[in-house]
Amino acid sequence: MGLTTENGSTAAGKEPCGLKFLIYGRTGWIGGLLGGLCTERGIPFVYGDGRLEYRAQLEADIAAASPTHVFNAAGVTGRPNVDWCETHRVETIRANVVGTLTLADVCRERGLILVNYATGCIFEYDGAHPLDSGVGFKEEDTPNFVGSFYSKTKAMVEELLKNYENVCTLRVRMPISSDLLNPRNFITKITRYEKVVNIPNSMTILDELLPISIEMAKRNLTGIWNFTNPGVVSHNEILEMYKDYIDPKFTWKNFNLEEQAKVIVAPRSNNELDTTKLKGEFPELLSIKESLIKYVFEPNKTASVA
Ligand SMILES: NC(=O)c1ccc[n+]([C@@H]2O[C@H](COP(=O)([O-])OP(=O)(O)OC[C@H]3O[C@@H](n4cnc5c(N)ncnc54)[C@H](OP(=O)(O)O)[C@@H]3O)[C@@H](O)[C@H]2O)c1
Repeated sequence: MGLTTENGSTAAGKEPCGLKFLIYGRTGWIGGLLGGLCTERGIPFVYGDGRLEYRAQLEADIAAASPTHVFNAAGVTGRPNVDWCETHRVETIRANVVGTLTLADVCRERGLILVNYATGCIFEYDGAHPLDSGVGFKEEDTPNFVGSFYSKTKAMVEELLKNYENVCTLRVRMPISSDLLNPRNFITKITRYEKVVNIPNSMTILDELLPISIEMAKRNLTGIWNFTNPGVVSHNEILEMYKDYIDPKFTWKNFNLEEQAKVIVAPRSNNELDTTKLKGEFPELLSIKESLIKYVFEPNKTASVA
């Protein structure tokens, strides 16, 4: 099992910064962005070739790369969406449960920190954390959303990973990037839906938060982290911004959760995550609305609106 060097001459050895990352998820959205960031910053990295569920392949990747840190941006999210996981349960378990746990275990054996891009879609608003209350779920809260098979298995894995002191679990939610043409981008998705619900949620601006995940690796941080920008934003608030910055003629239609349930298979999670812990470590972290404007809408404004 070989490794592909993505960073030219610098990736073969360790730079003066002493870092060398091994990244899983080469062909994925987050894995691709992460590799791009490492290249920009001159951080040596390689992508792992192994499939997560094959322990020997992961061991070979690590032996070949001698990384300082491992990043896991691999897993199945379902195509065209998470409903796929409802009908592909074994494949979902193989990658997201067996695979993720195998990687965490191999990293632990080698004394390596694993930065794991997980999900915050394991909670839903409840009596103690009502919608619009500003009371978010904390890192130590027990997941209460098992409505979809994807979320259910992600919650199980998170629980098991708590026992691995070498793992940094990043609870990503509804990721957004400045690439408004990417079909995975939450903004792109909701601008293309025929109808959208309108619910405030915690979300992750990748342009701001992926560099922070690199910094977290440098600081050797571990444990669970709500990995979203502080505060919530609703679908309609984002679409209003889209109209203001990108397409003044844009229109959309809303529907409610009952109507949405008719066009999806599994229910979706809606929640607010408490970001006190992340903000404490990174005081410069912007609120979700500030981050949307700074990283997504302002940079796209000049390009899209003459
Ligand atoms: N996108 C979201 O909405 C979202 C939200 C919250 C959290 N996350 C989490 O963030 C992570 C990355 O998400 P993403 O959106 O970047 O996913 P993505 O674009 O679907 O990419 C997934 C990557 O995982 C790889 N992969 C799948 N199964 C694998 C296996 N068994 N062994 C090795 N590699 C495997 C894929 O490679 P192949 O193409 O070779 O299979 C691909 O490179 C996932 O764990 C996801 O749960 C995503």
